[in-house]
Amino acid sequence: MSDFSRTLIERSGYESEDFADLYNRYRLAPPRELLDILTLVAEAERPRLVVDLGAGTGLSTRVWAERAERVIGVEPNAHMVERARRATQESNVDYVEAYAADTGLGGVDADIVACAQAFHWMEPDPVLVEAAGLLRPGGVFAAYDYDVPPVIHPEVDASFADHLAARRAARKRLDLQAGAESWPKEMHLVRIRESGRFRFAREIVCHGFDEADAGRIIGLAESLGGPRGIFGDAAPEVGETFERLRDTTKRVVGNRMRPIVVCYRIRVGVK
Ligand SMILES: C[S@@+](CC[C@H](N)C(=O)[O-])C[C@H]1O[C@@H](n2cnc3c(N)ncnc32)[C@H](O)[C@@H]1O
Repeated sequence: MSDFSRTLIERSGYESEDFADLYNRYRLAPPRELLDILTLVAEAERPRLVVDLGAGTGLSTRVWAERAERVIGVEPNAHMVERARRATQESNVDYVEAYAADTGLGGVDADIVACAQAFHWMEPDPVLVEAAGLLRPGGVFAAYDYDVPPVIHPEVDASFADHLAARRAARKRLDLQAGAESWPKEMHLVRIRESGRFRFAREIVCHGFDEADAGRIIGLAESLGGPRGIFGDAAPEVGETFERLRDTTKRVVGNRMRPIVVCYRIRVGVK
């Protein structure tokens, strides 16, 4: 389990100097609507404990601080954990440096075990066993991801999509392993169902509004899929499509903050 994730993390570029800062600054935190949905399904208006697997820099962890009694983020990359601890002031939020399949948390009777933008990095079966072990009966496991690009502006969205397509094609050509290829997000729900650990599973979709200016949109693009440096000189199209996205975004969006829509797919399993 850890070997798979270890290799993925090493090859992702997520351990490079500064990437955790870039990530923390530009990636998106889940909206209130998503937390409302999870507390509703878990029938826990104020959860006693939320565990966030694959916490990264804590964007998906500390949003729970005001909603839950206690929150624990689980993250094996020491750089991300360090950034998460630095970015978190709330005293009811803790982080442990561990893999999701072996959190070391024991039977904590969590109300919600969440996995934000991270389940495709993990070997699903042992993680689902661990998640079910952390939950109380009726507690909810939720693997959720947002669609990229977010809804910004037709011209920007098209340019953003071109850049992401160039990255995907370059990864494939250069055989740069990405978690999503081994464990596609489209299969999350099937994996949850087939694990046999949850009495009910379904997908829920929702959206939240955020806002961004050109700097934030470009930063988000820069942080998706790891630093562009992992391609070296072998994929000039990645840099070219990024430059085009940057020019388009500066021209269309500029320095004005404008609303963006972020669409989420949540796959829940109820224990
Ligand atoms: C795309 S980030 C998501 C971070 C955060 N949840 C968010 O929403 O911004 C995925 C994170 O999963 C972590 N990760 C990868 N394999 C893992 C594993 N087996 N157990 C726990 N975390 C893992 C990575 O180190 C990375 O920080």
